[in-house]
Amino acid sequence: MFLASDPGPQLLLLFSFGMGMAAGSKCPQSCLCQDQEVACTDLELTEYPNDIPLNTRRLFLNNNKITSLPALQLGFLSDLVYLDCQKNRIREVMDYTFIGVFKLIYLDLSSNNLTFISPNSFSVLGNLVRLNISNNPYLLYLDKYTFANTSSLRYLDLRNTGLQTIDEDAFQHLVVLNTMYLSGNPWNCNCSFLDFAIHLLVSQMETPDGQIAMCTEPTELRGWPITRVGNPLQYMCITHLDSHDYIFLLLIGFCIFAAGTVAAWLTGVCAVLYQNAHRKSSGDEESPLSEEENRFANQIFRSHTNFRQGRFPQLI
Ligand SMILES: *[C@@H]1O[C@H](CO)[C@@H](O)[C@H](O)[C@H]1NC(C)=O
Ligand SMILES: *[C@@H]1O[C@H](CO)[C@@H](O)[C@H](O)[C@H]1NC(C)=O
Ligand SMILES: *[C@@H]1O[C@H](CO)[C@@H](O)[C@H](O)[C@H]1NC(C)=O
Ligand SMILES: *[C@@H]1O[C@H](CO)[C@@H](O)[C@H](O)[C@H]1NC(C)=O
Repeated sequence: MFLASDPGPQLLLLFSFGMGMAAGSKCPQSCLCQDQEVACTDLELTEYPNDIPLNTRRLFLNNNKITSLPALQLGFLSDLVYLDCQKNRIREVMDYTFIGVFKLIYLDLSSNNLTFISPNSFSVLGNLVRLNISNNPYLLYLDKYTFANTSSLRYLDLRNTGLQTIDEDAFQHLVVLNTMYLSGNPWNCNCSFLDFAIHLLVSQMETPDGQIAMCTEPTELRGWPITRVGNPLQYMCITHLDSHDYIFLLLIGFCIFAAGTVAAWLTGVCAVLYQNAHRKSSGDEESPLSEEENRFANQIFRSHTNFRQGRFPQLI
């Protein structure tokens, strides 16, 4: 037979053909596959497509209706560096979602329906340079450990989400971050926001939309750009007293005032009583000295009476 006569090269051919099937020739239906790039753009897909070649480096899943990313299938693409999931309906990113695609450099999750990004979702993405999670209006919260391991991140787009606040610690490990977009979020510039506001003031990071990224709360800072709110916020949170503090101070003041009045009154009463007792014990004899004392006690008593009637000109 042909095979029996010359098995070596023939088997090799079959083998490489098989590898070719697995690595190159397979392509998800309707997608375009070329040069380790797979484009499944705009296909109304509701699920992550099957049969993506294992050697894919760039994957475009944008403009579909995909609701979740399956960690297992995605994990087969260990060479993936570029993943575009823009304009889908992805709801959640779990701790394990990207566990197998640790070479990712570019990740676009913008214009989805993210409500939750698990704190360790990006923890293996140490090579990630660009991350876009903009246009996810139901994303209300980012954990401070979300970016703990994405130390190569340079561009971060957080526009148009539901984020009201962000912990300054979240940026601790983003040492090369140089551009961040922050507009379109309902930032709550309360005292918890102070550290992040100061970070924005002192860091060298670029915030191209910084002037239109504004506080929506509290009312007195509404409309302030968050890149400049650090100073007023510092004043408000560190030196400024609000109405509760004024009421408290007023109360303390009143207590001291009342205690002083009572003490003065008691002193006066004691002096008068002592004077009377003294006078009785020494008969009705009136020495010039005791008369002097008497006048003094009366004076204290009288000044207290004035005081009780609300007249206390020395103080007012
Ligand atoms: C992020 O995605 C939005 C569209 O979803 C796009 O307009 C924006 O330019 C992207 N941001 C970056 C930094 O590429
Ligand atoms: C997006 O998520 C919100 C909140 O979970 C939900 O009410 C809405 O129906 C979702 N939209 C789509 C298009 O899935
Ligand atoms: C962060 O990366 C380091 C090394 O790359 C790894 O040891 C560590 O477990 C990672 N942290 C998390 C939370 O995955
Ligand atoms: C500030 O606002 C955020 C978000 O609305 C809230 O979670 C936080 O508790 C607030 N902090 C203070 C001190 O009010």
